[in-house]
Amino acid sequence: MPAIEVRNLSKVFRVSEKEPGLGGAFKSLFRRKFRTVPAVSDVSFDIKEGELVGFLGANGAGKTTTLKMLSGLLHPTTGTASVLGFEPWKRKPAFQKQFSLVMGHRTQLWWEIPAQETFRLNQEIYEIPEADYKRNIDELVDLLELQDCLSIPVKKLSLGQRMKAELAAAILHRPKLLLLDEPTIGLDVVMQKKVRQFILEYNRRYKATVLLTSHNMDDVSELCPRILIIERGRLLYDGALRSVVERYAPFKLMRADFSGDVVTADLERIGKVLENRGPSATLEVPRHDVSAKAAELLSRFPVVDLTIEETPVQEVVRRLFIAGGKSGA
Ligand SMILES: Nc1ncnc2c1ncn2[C@@H]1O[C@H](COP(=O)(O)OP(=O)(O)OP(=O)(O)O)[C@@H](O)[C@H]1O
Ligand SMILES: [Mg+2]
Repeated sequence: MPAIEVRNLSKVFRVSEKEPGLGGAFKSLFRRKFRTVPAVSDVSFDIKEGELVGFLGANGAGKTTTLKMLSGLLHPTTGTASVLGFEPWKRKPAFQKQFSLVMGHRTQLWWEIPAQETFRLNQEIYEIPEADYKRNIDELVDLLELQDCLSIPVKKLSLGQRMKAELAAAILHRPKLLLLDEPTIGLDVVMQKKVRQFILEYNRRYKATVLLTSHNMDDVSELCPRILIIERGRLLYDGALRSVVERYAPFKLMRADFSGDVVTADLERIGKVLENRGPSATLEVPRHDVSAKAAELLSRFPVVDLTIEETPVQEVVRRLFIAGGKSGA
């Protein structure tokens, strides 16, 4: 049985439209106008137990709405979902105990009290036996380096410290499924890296299933072999990150510094020259030809430094949007 099974899931929001001004507010008391917002449209996918999947899309594409349905916070308009064998919106306690939804821009911690007191509260809510609680807390404090943060009121923690405490609170009951909505938002690069390492470690150690949204492509390329891309509520792509990269980023960039000037026409033999200024140049080289071309460059030109770069994943996804997307592999 897949950890998540989604079939033809749709969510249409109905929002009342008010005419501007006081008169408009008065009128709308009697005659409400509604507008419908199709946030998620006919989305289907399966996620296997233990998989790490990235959920990508532009602002307003429907990612958070989907995660809210999968965690039972929202009823779908149509369609079905089975999450860990449960229908999420029935909100069975047995279901609630097996997953966690973490939203990067919201907190489940109590603001005025130290995080460790929220942890205790979660122990009660999730009915975690004392021995398990102690073991889990020790492990989390260690993994997330939370030693210095536990007894300080949450409102006094830095954003990064709070995010780590947030993850600890969400994971204390060892959920089998993590739904993470922008877990690295607002964090500096060092802290982002720590959060990613933690997610990966948790996934590996407990075979936990992870579905995460992010606008940060490092999250995606470091964590998610598989991605789902949603655009305007519709699933545009479901497949390997690698095949998207190969299809929409067939080139790599080679940047070389030379000990003297080189002639652009000579460099063209290696690859398409994007820039050749003084003693350094940038070339576009087919991905599968990179090592041969690099060797040729090194042997024929006075190279003092050479770097090879990937096309940024944002750019890859942008090209996929433009191409209209394709499902598969
Ligand atoms: N409670 C709501 N009532 C009305 N419309 C809503 C509601 N929640 C979301 N929407 C609309 O549904 C669409 C999808 O929103 P959603 O929050 O799922 O996007 P998202 O992919 O998470 O975007 P972001 O990357 O900005 O977080 C948007 O058009 C949004 O305005
Ligand atoms: Mg969102």
